[in-house]
Amino acid sequence: MSPFTLTRTLPADATAAALRADVAHGLTRSPKQLPPKWFYDARGSELFEEITRLPEYYPTRAEREILHARAPEIAKATGARTLVELGSGSSEKTRLLIGALGGPLTYVPIDVSESALTGAGEALLADHRDLSVHALVADFQHGLALPETPGPRLVAFLGGTIGNLLPQERARFLSSVRALLSPGDALLLGTDLVKDETTLVAAYDDAQGVTAAFNKNVLSVIDRELGADFHPDDFDHVAVWDREQEWIEMRLRARADVTVKVPALDLSVDFTRGETMRTEVSAKFREEGVRAELAAAGLALRHWWTDTEGRFALSLAFPA
Ligand code: AVJ
Repeated sequence: MSPFTLTRTLPADATAAALRADVAHGLTRSPKQLPPKWFYDARGSELFEEITRLPEYYPTRAEREILHARAPEIAKATGARTLVELGSGSSEKTRLLIGALGGPLTYVPIDVSESALTGAGEALLADHRDLSVHALVADFQHGLALPETPGPRLVAFLGGTIGNLLPQERARFLSSVRALLSPGDALLLGTDLVKDETTLVAAYDDAQGVTAAFNKNVLSVIDRELGADFHPDDFDHVAVWDREQEWIEMRLRARADVTVKVPALDLSVDFTRGETMRTEVSAKFREEGVRAELAAAGLALRHWWTDTEGRFALSLAFPA
């Protein structure tokens, strides 16, 4: 059997249809909003990689520190023979887990980007004997189904991406993950933690303006995919800490009154000067909150690990 297979569970046009629906909905409601998943075209993914190297953006380094320190414990606690990774992207941090778990191992990376899956899968196979890769092109928020692979399975959802879901979406998502797990399987979850506002805002509004470019990139995606005429320079990047919700909110703020045409949707949208549109929430967590959200989904938190500075956490949870 080939050590690399790829399965598409998304129809080729599903992404286009979802973008149209999200833009049609988001630009006609008040206040306007766009979901963060549309940041990640090729340019957006590059900008995100650049963000992870910024001095202000600590989460990636903090999570890598934890994985580096704890990968052997994770391997021992789970004994996993299959590693499933949701939103795997470049699979860079995954190498630490694959190395610790050892072979034979099946790696199931799941991402909406087929090119990311192929690239990462091939790179990992070049470096690990005894590894099979079964890549899945899928949207982890909708109807996850896993291939038949050896157990126990470890499902990893890293990077703090769960923070980009709203509380209701998180509850639904965690329940759907729980439904995939059999006794002895586990979930490894990365969450950014609540900390002082200055550190948080700086991580989402860096001095070099990379996050600003990343935020505005969603407008270029809509221009290209839907023929819209957004001028990204008509908008300012805004990052605010919502202390009640305990999340960072990224917004785009119109610098003037502007009208945007979206021909593919037969839509004309007015922004008034100063109007803001939410483009991302990035929730920050506390241990008790994570424990409670996991428990509500039928998952018991067994290990809670943070980096030495207490900025980021990895949770290991098992079916309750
Ligand atoms: C790593 C996808 C969770 O919310 O921190 C980085 C994305 N947004 N800078 C995050 C992001 C702005 C990010 N995720």
